[in-house]
Amino acid sequence: MTLLTHWEGRPVDAWRASWEVPHLEIHDALGSTNDRAKELARNGKNAWAAVLAETQTRGRGREGRAWVSPAGQGLWLSVLVPSKGLATDGLLPLRVGLASAEALEGRVGRGLGVQLKWPNDLLLSGKKVGGVLCENTGSGIVVAGLGLNVGQKSADFPPELRETAISLEEGVGSPVPRGELAGVLIRGIKRGVGDGGEHLTPGEMEGFSRRDVLLGQQIESQQEGLGVAVGITPSGSLIMEAEVGGRREIRGGSVRQVIR
Ligand code: BTN
Repeated sequence: MTLLTHWEGRPVDAWRASWEVPHLEIHDALGSTNDRAKELARNGKNAWAAVLAETQTRGRGREGRAWVSPAGQGLWLSVLVPSKGLATDGLLPLRVGLASAEALEGRVGRGLGVQLKWPNDLLLSGKKVGGVLCENTGSGIVVAGLGLNVGQKSADFPPELRETAISLEEGVGSPVPRGELAGVLIRGIKRGVGDGGEHLTPGEMEGFSRRDVLLGQQIESQQEGLGVAVGITPSGSLIMEAEVGGRREIRGGSVRQVIR
């Protein structure tokens, strides 16, 4: 791995200052920025230190899935977030997703219409543009990883992802400079999760609900079976009206939309 001194036309230290983070590393290649961020946490780096890589060779998503991270075509980044206990930490994927959606719309315009799919997907036009993976380090820090497809054209995605993945530039229709974008996202994440408590605030609930792609949709939960998604609770569970009757609160596992 090579630590870059310049990125996107500016010294890395200039990006560090403009993104308002205490420590910034930008690598040409890493296995996973989350793994490097965990090392930084173990080595005592402060909260809000950030790591980016041009490409990841073992980028990962939730539930052991691989995260395809081609060089120069996305933002693959991890931020050290102070841990505030189990309940608050459990809300981080939702808060990071919501903060990222707001930051993207703030940069590009409300019309961008970023959607959120519980618990950690960012979508544009129903296709996945980004995802969040939060991992606790056990040392008072949670690593919040964000992967955002920025510059890919449809043909750049592996064939199995072409129907379901999209890049920001495909959604916007014009280039979006990654340096500025990373700053908007990191500052937004810092603001969005910084003061967060054990429950989502009414404002956060409204922000999620307005973008909730599953709301009113038929879904299948790994754990709870078939039903209709009717929203989320302030503690971050997905609420499902089960087909067999009754309300279920889903806390983990994956959920897929059922098209009938
Ligand atoms: C998901 O959708 O399942 C989450 C994807 C998270 C990908 C990001 S890219 C930066 C960070 N490093 C990783 O290895 N994963 C996260």
